[in-house]
Amino acid sequence: MSRPSRKIVVLGSTGSIGTSTLDVAAASDGRLQVIGLSANRSCQRLLEQARRVRPRWVAVMDEESGRQFDWREVPPETQLLLGPEGIERMAVDDEVDVVVASIVGSAGLAGAWAAVQAGKTLALANKETLVMAGPLVMREAAQRGATVLPVDSEHSAVFQSLQAGRRDELKRIILTASGGPFREHSRQEMEQVTVEEALAHPTWNMGEKITIDSATMMNKALEIIEARWLFDLQPEQIEVVVHPQSIVHSLVEFQDGAVVAQLGPPDMKLPIQYALSYPERWDGPAARLDFRRVFSLDFFPPDEERFPALGLGHEVARRGGTAGAVLNAANESAVAGFLQGRIRFTDVVPACRAVLDEHNYDPSPTLQELLGLDAWARKEMTKWMGV
Ligand SMILES: NC(=O)c1ccc[n+]([C@@H]2O[C@H](COP(=O)([O-])OP(=O)(O)OC[C@H]3O[C@@H](n4cnc5c(N)ncnc54)[C@H](OP(=O)(O)O)[C@@H]3O)[C@@H](O)[C@H]2O)c1
Repeated sequence: MSRPSRKIVVLGSTGSIGTSTLDVAAASDGRLQVIGLSANRSCQRLLEQARRVRPRWVAVMDEESGRQFDWREVPPETQLLLGPEGIERMAVDDEVDVVVASIVGSAGLAGAWAAVQAGKTLALANKETLVMAGPLVMREAAQRGATVLPVDSEHSAVFQSLQAGRRDELKRIILTASGGPFREHSRQEMEQVTVEEALAHPTWNMGEKITIDSATMMNKALEIIEARWLFDLQPEQIEVVVHPQSIVHSLVEFQDGAVVAQLGPPDMKLPIQYALSYPERWDGPAARLDFRRVFSLDFFPPDEERFPALGLGHEVARRGGTAGAVLNAANESAVAGFLQGRIRFTDVVPACRAVLDEHNYDPSPTLQELLGLDAWARKEMTKWMGV
């Protein structure tokens, strides 16, 4: 008897998470059928994916790139969609079971929001969605019967570990952080780091933006905020520990002191697959731990002086409201500025702090207001960078 397959749409399929998602689907023995793909501008890569996967749709966000590209080799059954409507069209279609949100940055919010409104299962890699609009997204999901499952490895580890106890037995969660390439750098050394050095992550191979976020530890700040809304935790229940090997993906402590963790090599295919197979577990292509090899697991408290992003993360998780959207947009803009050589590595976090302090805080904004603040924070950051 053939198994019914889960029909998935991969938003941001040409990126690092998107590509790994297609690998997971290809190895799923027909359990996962990819019926929609999307890119911003990488049309050639999207075409290659479409020829392999033969989806119902490919969507290109940047309409100009999509129009100019030669699509003659796209499979005949695949329809080309252009612009933001294309992404939303795929995310809400009745045939779709799971939407994988793997677009980078605040651009990922619209597709994730559409999926939640349509009551879909949302496999969420785009942490920015919850950083910007966590309370709104989680409330909408509850009202529409949508399920939000984490793809971020730390949140997947927490989600898996939480299954060892009841919710009212949970004491705290501990997010692990590799510490990035500058874990042992002094403040002075950090002032000199180049873009190339910041892009060389010691354990994970990821897209550019999240790689810089890992180096500043803003990634962990965003993850603190993501965890706050995803798991409905108090900010004081969320701690961070530096674990350079990236094998323990995060831990959960229960009331009796038991600490439960999920381990594995640094390979996103496992958390991606778990979000797609949940509540089942399947054999899959993720790398395995080999206990015949000697390896050690180290844990250090984070240095919040050298990595002030962590304090910002806790502060924004406490404040909620408009703070997350402003921090997120300020950071995206500052990271772009650093990659373009307009500011130094050590300017990124103070610049975010400055823009955050400048904004008109509102404890319960609408989605429209958050999008307006996203645009405002980018402009403020451009001013801060003196451009
Ligand atoms: N990479 C990881 O290991 C990892 C781990 C945990 C969480 N995440 C999260 O997953 C998300 C994706 O990260 P990534 O590393 O996979 O990023 P990435 O490699 O940079 O890929 C980003 C994807 O988003 C598309 N995209 C970019 N800008 C867009 C826009 N304005 N509109 C529509 N699509 C757009 C890109 O299309 P083009 O190819 O056309 O540019 C690409 O498909 C991020 O939120 C990140 O924080 C990533």
